[in-house]
Amino acid sequence: MKIRAVSAPNIALIKYWGNRNEELRLPAADSLSMTLDSPTVEVSAESTSNFSVRSIHSDGSERILTERERSRLENHFLLAKKYAEKLPSSVSIEIRSNVPRGIGLASSAAVFSALAESYAAFIPNMSRKDVSILARLGSGSASRSVYGGFVAMHVGEGSEIDASYAEQLAPENHWELYDIVIAPSIEEKTTGSSEGHPLAHTSPFFEKRLRELPDRQAMCIEAIRGKNFDKLRIVAEVDCLDMHAVMKSSTPPLKYLSNETERIMREVEALRAPEHLPVLYTMDAGPTVHLICEKSALSSVSEYASRQKNCTVFETKIGSGSSLL
Ligand code: DP6
Repeated sequence: MKIRAVSAPNIALIKYWGNRNEELRLPAADSLSMTLDSPTVEVSAESTSNFSVRSIHSDGSERILTERERSRLENHFLLAKKYAEKLPSSVSIEIRSNVPRGIGLASSAAVFSALAESYAAFIPNMSRKDVSILARLGSGSASRSVYGGFVAMHVGEGSEIDASYAEQLAPENHWELYDIVIAPSIEEKTTGSSEGHPLAHTSPFFEKRLRELPDRQAMCIEAIRGKNFDKLRIVAEVDCLDMHAVMKSSTPPLKYLSNETERIMREVEALRAPEHLPVLYTMDAGPTVHLICEKSALSSVSEYASRQKNCTVFETKIGSGSSLL
């Protein structure tokens, strides 16, 4: 039986940064995101006696995985088997990704949510919560791409494998939001999120961040429920800059934002001010800027993005989460 699944990245509005258990990717706090409709990742999984993985570029050529990437995928399968014992003894997987890796566009969220979707299909009666836990074991943020629309990740309590999981707050048709993604560079970053999370605890600002997060998460949920864009902009931008302050002040420091990122942020502030355009910026672990906007701002934001030289632009909107094909 060959199982196929598809998924896409999500963009965090309240950021996940730092774990309380690195191996199981149990987060240190709640987080919240919007799932995107593209770029997509397709995976297939088949029961075999030995674990194997192939990665195929969007042009059909094979991408040779590094040993580190291969072992992360195998380790994910072994952890998934701990949670769902009825999984086959091993699997052969194939990954076809249209998401550039390592630029702050959540490629791992798309890959591991699609894999979780396909693993769950081997076992009867798996719930969405189960799929979200399976995804988290590969990449913390992947647990949120299992659902469409607006999704909250619950920190939970304790260190059991199922202690943290994601839940949908509102489906994709609740609020028509777009994410115009501007990637100033598609070069892979040098420190991936997995290496970055353990450093969060070394920042003098991390404890304060953890204290403030519950109020911010509540404010973000309120903004989404009430479709209040101003409220969403304020809380999402404060939280994004706060996460980057933690990253920059960790030991060693992590500087994910570039001069180009800063320039785009300033220009978007100037662009939105005169007519109060509903657009906000947010960045994950990379220089890539996500411009989240309502439909009324879409043409101005797209036009601004298309004027960016030497940048790759993705026009995305709120999406429906991982599913079987
Ligand atoms: C900055 O989920 O990518 O994008 O579990 O190591 O794969 P791993 O980490 P990951 O961390 C995401 C960090 C972030 C913020 C977010 O998406 O919430």
